Amino acid sequence: MKTSSDVAQMTRLILKAGKDARREIQPMAEAALTQAVQWPLTCTVGPGLEGAIACESKVGYVNGSQGWLIYRGYDIFDLAAHSTFEEVSYLLMHGELPTPSQLASHEDQLRQARRLPKTLAMMQRFDVTDMHPMALLRLGTNVMRQEFTWSDKSQGRPDGTAIASDEDSIAMETRPQGFDRPVYEFPRKPLRRPGAVDIGLHHAACQDSSYHLIAGVASIAAAINRMRRGLKPVEPDDKLSHAANLLYMMKGRRPTAAAAKAMDVALILHADHGMNASTFAALVVASTLSDMYFAVGAGIGALSGPLHGGANEQVIHMLREIGSPQNVAPWLKSTLDAKRKIMGFGHRVYKAYDPRARVLAPLVAFLADGRPRCGKLLATAARLEKMVLGSVGKEKNLFPNVDFYSGLLYRCLAIEPDMFTPLFAVSRVAGWSARILEYLQSNRIFRPRAIYSGPLDRQYTPRP
Ligand code: COA
Repeated sequence: MKTSSDVAQMTRLILKAGKDARREIQPMAEAALTQAVQWPLTCTVGPGLEGAIACESKVGYVNGSQGWLIYRGYDIFDLAAHSTFEEVSYLLMHGELPTPSQLASHEDQLRQARRLPKTLAMMQRFDVTDMHPMALLRLGTNVMRQEFTWSDKSQGRPDGTAIASDEDSIAMETRPQGFDRPVYEFPRKPLRRPGAVDIGLHHAACQDSSYHLIAGVASIAAAINRMRRGLKPVEPDDKLSHAANLLYMMKGRRPTAAAAKAMDVALILHADHGMNASTFAALVVASTLSDMYFAVGAGIGALSGPLHGGANEQVIHMLREIGSPQNVAPWLKSTLDAKRKIMGFGHRVYKAYDPRARVLAPLVAFLADGRPRCGKLLATAARLEKMVLGSVGKEKNLFPNVDFYSGLLYRCLAIEPDMFTPLFAVSRVAGWSARILEYLQSNRIFRPRAIYSGPLDRQYTPRP
């Protein structure tokens, strides 16, 4: 059983991981992705909007070629070692680290928003055993919306008609004939929003909802964990931190200091990660001046896909399939021969060691000590990492990503794999909220175009 003195040891491990990382990389900003933006931008866009610049943001930056991640300018290693999820969520939302009184008030708002008696009572009416936890989480945000938003009150509702957001007001192509791609004409001056809309009120409502969601999604995820196992939700404990209370509400017993620290670090590491699919989905919905609940619901939907949030669960299935360190070599050969992917390796952005994996790896080793089943999974994982880095990884620039170790960390905390993706959402809701609040300051509805590649001149014959 680990105790509070272990937290200091865990902090040392994270700081060491950070020191090792800095020995290998010299954090450097990519000029094209960090300089002041002059709209319109010229960029090369691939399928799936790859390479497209969707907006400007001060929330966070990922340098994938170096394996460098910062939130609001602060290195992820420092935040993981010294901060808390509460402080990080404040930083993401407000742009600065809080003063002691700001932090106390932020923590208080989150604590108050943990209680969702109506939402949880309503959710208990559903037969939850057959519903995917992510579907339940999304349902939970809709039920919260019913409970909290101005959808049921007239006050605070923005005048949605006044925003310059419809199709006619966006820059459209002119003179497209004769060009092999559309020509866009953008106004030279910054676009001015018509004055009538009270975006301030909308922004305030969204900030209020962010608190409800950051705290509430955690309470709902914890309740889902219990309800799906035939247990009743547990009341939050105001004396506990966000991470400790999450574990308490999931399991019904107070966690050790080491378990709470591990969960806190996992929440910090997953809180924001650039313009990933779920963040973009949430922003697109928010940009229509829909509300935070719908936007976060969209993020949850996007995160549920196996190409995004589901990989850590797959890592555990993969390690169980391999079975033991001795089986890694034949398993790896057959997997590569069959051109199957090794779960938890590779990343669309990182072509270097994922800094979040660097933080989690030593914490998993620390937590697995004295837990034979976790120890076996970790030994298999460590052997796999070594073999991949020495072979296909070297060839193709494949490194462990955050999912390779986050699932192991959750297993060390005795969390079942079906809760891994909901836990990702519990954390990422902070990043979604921060980026939405920022984007709404100069909102412009997202409206890309599609290349039409269908026929142009079919003759319609009316039915006789
Ligand atoms: N295992 C084995 N080979 C992999 C691999 C993996 N996990 N990830 C990428 N590769 C190989 C690809 O097959 C490709 O090989 P090729 O050039 O011979 O065709 C090469 O590396 C480049 O891969 P690519 O598919 O272009 O990378 P990507 O940037 O498009 O994909 C992922 C990134 C995350 C989708 C991919 O690495 C993956 O599926 N990883 C496993 C799932 C996972 O861990 N997801 C969580 C991400 S946080």
